[in-house]
Amino acid sequence: MSLLMQQLKETVSFIQKEFPSDAAVGIILGSGLGNFIEEIGIEKEIPYSAIPHFPVSTVKGHGGKLIYGTLSGKKVLVMSGRFHFYEGYTPIQVTYPIRVMKLLGVHTVLLSNAAGSVNPTYKVGDLMIINDHISFFSLNPLLGHNVEELGPRFPDMTEPYSKALIAKAINIAKAHNIEVKQGVYVGVTGPTFETKAEYRLIKAVGGDVVGMSTVQENIAAVHCGMQVFAMSVVTDIGIREDENVITHEEVLEAAKGAEPKLSLLFKELVGEI
Ligand code: HPA
Repeated sequence: MSLLMQQLKETVSFIQKEFPSDAAVGIILGSGLGNFIEEIGIEKEIPYSAIPHFPVSTVKGHGGKLIYGTLSGKKVLVMSGRFHFYEGYTPIQVTYPIRVMKLLGVHTVLLSNAAGSVNPTYKVGDLMIINDHISFFSLNPLLGHNVEELGPRFPDMTEPYSKALIAKAINIAKAHNIEVKQGVYVGVTGPTFETKAEYRLIKAVGGDVVGMSTVQENIAAVHCGMQVFAMSVVTDIGIREDENVITHEEVLEAAKGAEPKLSLLFKELVGEI
């Protein structure tokens, strides 16, 4: 057995002693979106630092605990705080929780993130359903030895984000009069926000938003056969005339403002999974 598989099994058997293994849906919360956990009927939580082989998140705005509870009548596993490549974690570490979720029986993951927009029709606070991504600027987490127990060497990526879940989310948004965009997320490593020339490049290659997470998690989830739904909150505008700088504080603030809309959509979507 590969070392990764061995570690995953140790992590999973630890979590199975703490939580029942009946959650079919996993949720990973992005920057400034941690208050969503208030929607969950929390039954138990474990700090990442107590979980064998789990990385520990270091960024402001990321909580750092694995939560088991109920949302819309469904059992869910929620990661409050995720791991980013820019923190110094390897892509294997960034995607570790996705694989743990899979081995715990999770078949669908919902991901959220804060992102900068390069689409001139978007504004700060908008929600965007990710319908595709470009990962050319971030390292593929499947590089290296393929763990056959998890998935195939060459996974198909024609539907990285479930069309069925996107259709459900659009209906939910309509029913609640919430405006949602749909577009392409470009994954970068960060931690610098982009230069103006880089934002222009991202727009030119077909991106609508850009962010520092999600893509590696998505790839690992697709690899092991999970369905993914992902949503960005637009927290800053990359393509802009003015000379304002982009700060992490502004990103967290904008994410917080949009959180109630995102929470409602995620909550209702979980109810329909
Ligand atoms: N670029 C990259 N990542 C981000 C941005 C951005 O403009 N905003 C929030 N996360």
